[in-house]
Amino acid sequence: MKKALHIQIQAKDLPKEGEARVFPISPPRLSCVLVRDEEGSLHAYLNECQHLPIPLDGGVGSLLVDEDGLLVCRTHGAAYRPKDGLCVRGPCIGKALRPLSLHEGEGSISIVFEDTPQRMSS
Ligand code: FES
Repeated sequence: MKKALHIQIQAKDLPKEGEARVFPISPPRLSCVLVRDEEGSLHAYLNECQHLPIPLDGGVGSLLVDEDGLLVCRTHGAAYRPKDGLCVRGPCIGKALRPLSLHEGEGSISIVFEDTPQRMSS
C-alpha cells in the first residue's frame, strides 16, 4: 500500500530561474529537488541520482547547476535536464529522475510524494 506526503513550500522559498533547491520530505532520508527551468517553469523530482540511490546533493543541502542549466550530481557528475529530469551526461545517461506532482497555489506550492511507508520511514 502506498502512502502520500504533502509538502508545502512558501513562494519566497522557491528557486529562481536557473536555480535548484532541496526540501525535506521525510527527514533525514528522503528529500525533493525543486528546479526552475530556463522558461520559468517549476519542476519537482525525488532527490535521488539514477546512477546510485543517493541524493544528488550528496547530503549537503545545495545543488549544483552548471553553465548549461543542468542539475549536476555531486558524487560522479551525472547531469540532468531540469524540464524532464533526463540524464544527458554522465554514468546514467538516458535515465530520468523520478518526477513528483506539483500544484501551484496562491503564495505557495505543494508537492505530493507517494511511496511505501517503509521507504518513507527508513
Ligand atoms: S551517484 Fe550520481 S553520478 Fe554517481
